[in-house]
Amino acid sequence: MTYYIAWGVTGAGHFLSEVFLTMKKIKKLFNVKITTFTSKAGEEVLRIYGFLPKIKEVSPGNYYEEFFCSGSAWSFPVSGRLQLGKYNLLVIAPCSANTTAKIVHGIADTMVTNIFAQAQKGKIPTYILPTDWLPSETELPPMVNRDVCRGCKPCPPMEKCPYGAFEFVEGKARINLEKCWGCGLCVSLCPYKAVSFRERVKVTPRKIDVENVEKLCGFENVKVLRSPKELENLLFKFLEGKVKP
Ligand SMILES: Cc1cc2nc3c(=O)[nH]c(=O)nc-3n(C[C@H](O)[C@H](O)[C@H](O)COP(=O)(O)O)c2cc1C
Repeated sequence: MTYYIAWGVTGAGHFLSEVFLTMKKIKKLFNVKITTFTSKAGEEVLRIYGFLPKIKEVSPGNYYEEFFCSGSAWSFPVSGRLQLGKYNLLVIAPCSANTTAKIVHGIADTMVTNIFAQAQKGKIPTYILPTDWLPSETELPPMVNRDVCRGCKPCPPMEKCPYGAFEFVEGKARINLEKCWGCGLCVSLCPYKAVSFRERVKVTPRKIDVENVEKLCGFENVKVLRSPKELENLLFKFLEGKVKP
């Protein structure tokens, strides 16, 4: 049997590396078709963390294996698939605090919040991995530490950045994340190690975001997961036919 999974990716860097690995793993190990749906922010954050060029490894573009981002459409015609119950499962991972807040307040104005709304109508089981629930560690995007940067001229990362994402601001280098494709080339090029990528830092969620996740736990047909590992384990059990979603 072929499983059909709709996967919503929001604009969240937290858990993104782990989630992308899980998507690749299940695509490789199971007979599964994954359609990836992203919000506008989701597409940007996939780019910043270097995953946008790799999305074809998960959703290669065949029928029901497309990559849909919000683009210029505001009514998200493709989300009708979820209302019609065409997928076995909807996964929203990572799910930003913004998308969680919108979902619990019934707002459906982005690709991801809209597929959630349609999935509820189509009674499609849904797994959600919220980013802002339990205190944990997150990976930062590419960054220049301005305390370490010496403002070299020429600046080797700036010279070699394929996307022209480096600029000087008040004599020191800065990465313009609107141009960055997360290739990571810059990290090894700075002689003073002022550039970092995927640096891990602790995050403590806001009270309002925690409260929203708690509301989400009460939704029908929704399972809220605490970690990428918990999500992966559950997906494996589901795809092995050991649990019903
Ligand atoms: C590099 C980067 C990483 C981000 N990571 C997170 C995150 O982990 N969790 C979160 O709630 N928002 C995160 N944001 C902020 C969201 O992208 C922003 O709130 C956006 O409006 C979310 O839109 P969406 O929910 O429609 O995807 C991040 C933003 C950037 C630029």
